[in-house]
Amino acid sequence: MSATRSVEFDVKDIGLASQGKQRIEWAEREMPVLRLIRERFADEKPLSGTKLVACAHITTETANLARALQAGGTDAILIASNPLSTQDDVAASLVSDWGIPVYAIKGESTDTYNRHVRTALDSHPDIIIDDGSDVLATLIKERGDQVKELVGSTEETTTGIQRLKAMEIAGVLTFPTIAVNDAQTKHFFDNRYGTGQSTLDGIIRATNILLAGRNLVVVGYGWCGKGVALRARGMGANVIVTEIDAIKAVEAVMDGFRVMPIAEAATIGDIFVTVTGNRHVIDGDHFAHMKDGAIVCNSGHFDLELNLVALREMSAPPAKMRPFVEEYKVKATGSRVIVLGEGRLINLAAAEGHPASVMDMSFANQALSVEYLVKHKGRLAPGVHLLPPEVDTEIASLKLRALGISIDTLTAEQIEYIASWETGT
Ligand SMILES: NC(=O)c1ccc[n+]([C@@H]2O[C@H](COP(=O)([O-])OP(=O)(O)OC[C@H]3O[C@@H](n4cnc5c(N)ncnc54)[C@H](O)[C@@H]3O)[C@@H](O)[C@H]2O)c1
Repeated sequence: MSATRSVEFDVKDIGLASQGKQRIEWAEREMPVLRLIRERFADEKPLSGTKLVACAHITTETANLARALQAGGTDAILIASNPLSTQDDVAASLVSDWGIPVYAIKGESTDTYNRHVRTALDSHPDIIIDDGSDVLATLIKERGDQVKELVGSTEETTTGIQRLKAMEIAGVLTFPTIAVNDAQTKHFFDNRYGTGQSTLDGIIRATNILLAGRNLVVVGYGWCGKGVALRARGMGANVIVTEIDAIKAVEAVMDGFRVMPIAEAATIGDIFVTVTGNRHVIDGDHFAHMKDGAIVCNSGHFDLELNLVALREMSAPPAKMRPFVEEYKVKATGSRVIVLGEGRLINLAAAEGHPASVMDMSFANQALSVEYLVKHKGRLAPGVHLLPPEVDTEIASLKLRALGISIDTLTAEQIEYIASWETGT
């Protein structure tokens, strides 16, 4: 660990800062909503006197969130929410150009990742921005006494919210937390269009393969799955969907995709993408029946969607073909299974994550959620909360304004009509 501008940090190479700064400023151009919030925060300082830990993918977009939070007056520390998603130049610039302590190195070991979580918790934060709930889980499991210091937390992703709900049921969620993912201006756009585009970007950057004409299997037709399927079809792939939810499966059928069980899809897929937030959705038996050269990757939050432990056991030691591309030879059949990004989020491991324009709305939600927690300190019940719907609408309105798009408003006659029951045929 080192120190510069009197902040502690653990980044790969502080010398990368100037490249990182240039990229952070490039992303900022596509983040007009967050810019407006940053400017207001700079005037009003609504977060003064707070200590915040943000566990997030350390990308150019997150850097712009950190700038907004800093403008609001908080002391923020940043740590990675995934060992493979850090952009090392961005981490360096945040330390060197903005004096924000960052503990994140692309490719860090699980031990280093966990050490960074604990170092951040040593700062005794009042607010935690989490992405996957690893920080909160560590806090609750290891530092029970510190939990009462929390004003509240926010959660970025679907998987983290699943864990928060499990904490609520277990009776250990004793503070308010805001489910940022569940805001409409988050998951409608980030999970669908962000993951849709950036997942394919990750697959293509890692392999340089052509998608047209290939059977691309999307495992899970939730918000992320819909985005991946939509964009893959746009590039000419024959998309197959697997699901466990009957409603989502019907939706995929009506959207024009083939739907079948994973055991069947495993035998015909050329490329597989998991986006379920669930465990071992592609298992050993599925790997065993794949075509020679099948490409498998994950864009769900954790790296356990693919059962790589089983694949390792049934294969010879993997050969590294290119960065983020490993080839496993299944001993029993001799067929090769290509795994991308070690089964971690492929859009962040091999590409740059979501485009800034979509993260603009997600991170506007994060910044406003933090402000909401501080404003309502001591008045929110423990448990999982949503941001008020008018905040969602305000973020969408600001986005439209930034895009130069105007929409209609209800006339007085229409307001009266939709509120009445007398008028019919
Ligand atoms: N890569 C990224 O940048 C990114 C962005 C947003 C969310 N995420 C993560 O992606 C994952 C999915 O998020 P989401 O918002 O789409 O969730 P979601 O709940 O909308 O969708 C998940 C879908 O997976 C299905 N599913 C569960 N188990 C399955 C199984 N065994 N086989 C087939 N389908 C199964 C569910 O029925 C559901 O339809 C989560 O882990 C989330 O945290 C990643």
